[in-house]
Amino acid sequence: MKLSVIGCGYLGAVHASAMVELGHDVVGIDVDADKIAQLAQGRPPFFEPGLSEILTSATATGRLRFSTDIADAAGAQVHFIGVGTPQMAGSHAADLTYVNAAITGLLPYLAEGDLVVGKSTVPVGTASRLADLITDSGSGASLVWNPEFLREGFAVQDTISPDRLVYGVAPGEAGERSVELLNEVYASAIAADTPLVVTDYATAELVKVAANAFLATKISFINAMAEIAEVTGADVTQLADAIGFDARIGRRFLNAGVGFGGGCLPKDIRAFTARAEELGRGESVAFLKEVDQINLRRRSHVVDLATAALGERLHDGKVAVLGLSFKPHSDDVRDSPALDVAVQLHGLGADVVASDPKSVENAQAKHPQLRYSDVIEETLQDADLVVLVTEWPEFVTIDPVWAATLVKTPTIIDGRNALDAAAWRAAGWTYTGMGRP
Ligand code: UGA
Repeated sequence: MKLSVIGCGYLGAVHASAMVELGHDVVGIDVDADKIAQLAQGRPPFFEPGLSEILTSATATGRLRFSTDIADAAGAQVHFIGVGTPQMAGSHAADLTYVNAAITGLLPYLAEGDLVVGKSTVPVGTASRLADLITDSGSGASLVWNPEFLREGFAVQDTISPDRLVYGVAPGEAGERSVELLNEVYASAIAADTPLVVTDYATAELVKVAANAFLATKISFINAMAEIAEVTGADVTQLADAIGFDARIGRRFLNAGVGFGGGCLPKDIRAFTARAEELGRGESVAFLKEVDQINLRRRSHVVDLATAALGERLHDGKVAVLGLSFKPHSDDVRDSPALDVAVQLHGLGADVVASDPKSVENAQAKHPQLRYSDVIEETLQDADLVVLVTEWPEFVTIDPVWAATLVKTPTIIDGRNALDAAAWRAAGWTYTGMGRP
């Protein structure tokens, strides 16, 4: 099928390439000319495992093209909207500028029977408003809301083989036709019996934010337990293991640490709260403010531990910060707890040297005041304190005996509970985990 993908960021670039992998002809469109130029040469503008391979092969076949001109979407039968919905400046609400611009830009090029597929995360009520715009344009196209559940770091695999599909469709025959068409796009996932939920627009929009709100709550729940563990001498990792054996609870997303970040969870819970308040149901999700607060407290907690460990050396001591991205296998530093901790320590006067396998460039662009290094050895050299804040395999597998020979003071704060505490202590380190004695 001929498809267009409007917005070629973390979501759109992966989606466009993956759709070619599934056998379709795709044009990817974005207003950022540099990004489009890179993508057209088969070079991903960000790091995502497996993307480079599928992008290179897709562009080489000629079945994946890129353009900055939305007119090039004309002729495609299905148009995916994958633009960003960042947090609005000065408010917790989502900024819908890009979604609105994508739809209004696309309207003149829609033909009878075309399908517009919304994938961006939007406040509930957006899809029905956009559907009205499409209907009023008289194009004869229809809208489906098809939220995306991909995880950065696993985005290619999650797009090609999703764990579920959700279609929010218009009522009646138009909705039925949309289901048929979208099933054709996702034929391989449908053939693999991927669970499919066909519903209305509002439910589809809410499924997305409810899923992220639940995940954020799960992480903040275990971090709240870590706070209690910290004053009682209990071990939150053992607690997580023990409650996780209950299948109703489950062990995944129960890792206490410096908390969640990224371009999705933090802004999605805030936008959900803002939308619920607009709807007069603020109290229903008021707990998400607490989830956000617990999460932000974890960053302060790591900074407090570092301050206490450095003592007098806070103003001239060297702190080696291991990790900058919001999670491993990603170069994304949006709302990253790791980068936040590095910036806060620098602000307190520490001589911070931060390292990350993929994110140094992105972090440097946002915070040029920090010192960065790509080399672990150089980062650790003569450090008064080591702080691990992103659990990259490169950091988790550091030999504590070797690391002890490099630093000035063998003191480490494990902000992700990712290290073998006993091994680090045996190598002479003063080890502090999150919610662990
Ligand atoms: C999240 C959701 O997991 C995806 O399903 C969703 O599609 C995506 O947002 C989105 O809305 O686009 P992602 O932002 O890639 O995916 O990252 P996650 O894997 O959810 O991790 C989020 C943060 O939580 C990371 O900072 C991670 O370090 C932290 N985390 C995760 C914990 O602190 N503890 C855990 O146990 C798990």
